[in-house]
Amino acid sequence: MSQTIQAVRGMNDVLPDEAGWWLEFEAKVEAWLERYGYRNIRLPLVEHTQLFRRAIGEATDIVEKEMYSWRDELNDEELTLRPEGTASCVRAAIEHSLLHDGPKRLWYAGPMYRHERPQKGRYRQFHQYGVEALGYAGPDIDAELIVMCAALWRELGLQDVRLELNTIGSPAERARYRADLVRHLEQHLERLDADAKRRLHTNPLRTLDSKNPMVQEVVASAPALADYLGEASLAHFEGLKRLLEAAGIRYAINPRLVRGLDYYNLTVFEWISDRLGAQGTVCGGGRYDGLFAQLGGKPAPATGFAMGNERLIALMRDAGSAPPAKPPRAYVVFQGEGTIEYALSLAEELRRLGYRVVQHAGGGSFKSQMRKADASGAVYALIVGEDELRAGEVSVKPLREPGEQRRIARGRVAEALGD
Ligand code: HAM
Repeated sequence: MSQTIQAVRGMNDVLPDEAGWWLEFEAKVEAWLERYGYRNIRLPLVEHTQLFRRAIGEATDIVEKEMYSWRDELNDEELTLRPEGTASCVRAAIEHSLLHDGPKRLWYAGPMYRHERPQKGRYRQFHQYGVEALGYAGPDIDAELIVMCAALWRELGLQDVRLELNTIGSPAERARYRADLVRHLEQHLERLDADAKRRLHTNPLRTLDSKNPMVQEVVASAPALADYLGEASLAHFEGLKRLLEAAGIRYAINPRLVRGLDYYNLTVFEWISDRLGAQGTVCGGGRYDGLFAQLGGKPAPATGFAMGNERLIALMRDAGSAPPAKPPRAYVVFQGEGTIEYALSLAEELRRLGYRVVQHAGGGSFKSQMRKADASGAVYALIVGEDELRAGEVSVKPLREPGEQRRIARGRVAEALGD
């Protein structure tokens, strides 16, 4: 016998029981997005590799080692499975001049691909909802995005998701800071780990959020980015904080929060849960005012975030809300000459009225069909035998509550099923 083939490591099946949670999550998220006036955009899973190199940054983990990229020989192109959605969203906005008649609030959803080491909460194919507000410059829209998130956590029944907030200023402010940070790190070379050394001249800011205690000590005595911010950056941050306070949103300023993608400026934030172990960030985002120009478009301010579905669904389950169950209202069993046609049309008729109806398939004795009816979770079994067929009737048997089986006219079945 040939060997069975298994799913690719880090790319998971979502089996039907689990998928029930996904459907519930997606329905809630999409209703929430609609309430805030965000419109859906659907973007390809594959883009030119150059898009991500330019948007996310050459010296990031994602671009350096996590992208699924290949050369398409037929078209002589370098292509990549998207590791995130912001780059595609901005590319599409430029390509289709989406901002020609003003700013846009957009959302997208779907799988993203990163070749990371799989562990609980971290996968190679994972799913995001991304929310992007394109063309808005003020802190009011940053606040809107954050307030929205807080509302969603409430809606999903999640507690203990905390907000970390920071500002990373303008590119010019960061450049000045970066020079001083590098000087500081160079003075403590012997205490830096391989990662920090490697990033010293490519992406030294990432060293700020190193998890290595020795590196953290070096970082603790480093100059602070906040001291390099000019008036405009400070005013933006103050404006945001004021709006969050007015909205009753609690946050912690984390001066070491820099995020793993290079396109950010000013506001950055992450929502974190301590219930998920090492991979506790359920949502991350910030402002990226330079990205339109960086991708060759007309400059436009922008801000957004993305959340990880796998992590949020794990939290939702953990919060103990009732598992989504949608059993059929009726399960149709039948036995005898000519009953299958009668049963089929009965089931169709009821579905047209909006009932969830499962029609027995696969034959078997009456007894085994009734066992299947019961196992399906259906509220009623609808039984069609030769007697019922001749009389133009159906036997209705309650499966979930006490009550006698009764024979009724076919035209009255819907009435018997109730709602
Ligand atoms: P990100 O922080 O790379 O940001 O990803 C956002 C969220 O996706 C994370 O907080 C996490 O919940 C989830 N996530 C990321 N990688 C994995 C993984 N390997 N397995 C499971 N979940 C994962 C972005 O992607 C930006 N595009 C967010 C953004 C939108 N910024 C502005 N607009």
